[in-house]
Amino acid sequence: MAAAIAADPRRTLLAVCALALASLFAPAFAADGPEVYALHCAVCHQPDGEGLGTFPALAGSERALGDAHALVAFVLDGEGAMPAFRYVLDDDALAAVLSHVRTSFGNDAEPIEADLVADARLETAVDVETEPVEVDLPEDWFDLGEELFVTNCAACHQASGAGLPGAFPALAGAAFVQGNADEVLRLVLQGRAGMPAYGGSLDNRQLALIVSYVRNAWENEAHPVDASMVETVRGGGDLELEPTTPTTRPGAGN
Ligand code: HEC
Ligand code: HEC
Repeated sequence: MAAAIAADPRRTLLAVCALALASLFAPAFAADGPEVYALHCAVCHQPDGEGLGTFPALAGSERALGDAHALVAFVLDGEGAMPAFRYVLDDDALAAVLSHVRTSFGNDAEPIEADLVADARLETAVDVETEPVEVDLPEDWFDLGEELFVTNCAACHQASGAGLPGAFPALAGAAFVQGNADEVLRLVLQGRAGMPAYGGSLDNRQLALIVSYVRNAWENEAHPVDASMVETVRGGGDLELEPTTPTTRPGAGN
């Protein structure tokens, strides 16, 4: 009966719309080394890998070309002015970008597999729950956050937090959501791709409640945030609009 279905113009239109919507919001699943490098590394290490000032060259770098496990551990947690990418890049993206670095700019070392990144990530995992964070929130913050989430976010991410595969990433179980709170706040304030910006429509109190909720709903576990933390990330209105947020999200596609 496939012909009959295809011939029904309303069904066809619906299918076309669904496809168009899915491709509009489709996250980049396949990690592309050069693309990840351009977005996350080139600003400091330069597009040609030659570095600049205090940013070391990756061309010919002993660290980049040396022990793969040590390199992955270094990039996961950063050091000094080198940022940590643990909550920014997932295993595929990290493997892709490091493989790119190790085989470009005249470099010639073995590429790195996503499995190695996954192992190193687990081995070097730190318990982020050890330091209690003081937050100023009403006692019923979870319920208040849930209400705001259902109104503002559930249309895409679903009340279950499971998202819609291929279109809207899951927030339940997402490493990014449970990672660095400032990065989550920054994303919700300024939006990204198919994710709307809420910095203009929701106030600090509402954003704190929603983000605290998504970090603790559906078995997620991460410290809640309060309005003063949202204000700090807003930075008095001059929030940086640089793409400091990931293109490939740890939680997407789960
Ligand atoms: C904000 C600037 C910045 C960004 C963005 C950045 N790095 Fe770095 N990176 C640094 C600095 C600074 C160092 C030197 C750190 C040190 O030695 O303490 C460094 C060091 C390194 C080294 C070791 C180089 C050596 O020979 O010592 C590697 C490898 C590296 N970065 C890879 C990356 C990759 C891959 C990315 C993107 C995923 C990236 N970096 C993004 C600033 C940056
Ligand atoms: C119109 C649909 C839509 C709505 C409404 C929406 N989002 Fe999103 N959200 C997205 C899309 C699409 C992405 C993926 C963005 C990308 O590809 O970079 C996303 C990504 C995210 C992420 C990153 C997930 C990850 O693991 O990387 C978080 C966190 C998030 N949204 C939270 C929220 C919150 C909180 C709200 C409500 C205040 C909200 N979203 C409302 C569509 C939506």
